[in-house]
Amino acid sequence: MKKAFLALGTLLILLVAFSSCKNNTYEAFNTICDTSNAQFTAVINPIITDKCVSCHNSSSLSGGINLVGYANVKDNYEGILSTTRSGKMPPSGSPLDACSITKIQTWVNQGANNN
Ligand code: HEC
Repeated sequence: MKKAFLALGTLLILLVAFSSCKNNTYEAFNTICDTSNAQFTAVINPIITDKCVSCHNSSSLSGGINLVGYANVKDNYEGILSTTRSGKMPPSGSPLDACSITKIQTWVNQGANNN
């Protein structure tokens, strides 16, 4: 009988520890990755300009793709999301961090507006 209580107690402690740990991770991610202001001019375009336009502009059309300016970025958002998620793009240098990709996804979900 004692053993059964001990096992149950341990299980309960583990459960509580595990669930609080999950909450902390979730809150930490929310704090670090602020997607509340995922607007094109202020947030999205600077990410693309920093990481992509050196190879994707009107005089260097890698893969036939230009990523300069709103219309081009909007036309290519599916490719932007898939290649950054898979890590294919950028092909050299540091990859996009998860928060930047989340911000791009948020902007797309909100309608890929020119805001
Ligand atoms: C160092 C140069 C370079 C940088 C920086 C770069 N690309 Fe590319 N990209 C290429 C080349 C070269 C190709 C064509 C060859 C290929 O498809 O692998 C290409 C192809 C693509 C394609 C079309 C091919 C496909 O697989 O869909 C997309 C979309 C793309 N890039 C998106 C991006 C995005 C988004 C970024 C920034 C996060 C980026 N690229 C940064 C060189 C670059």
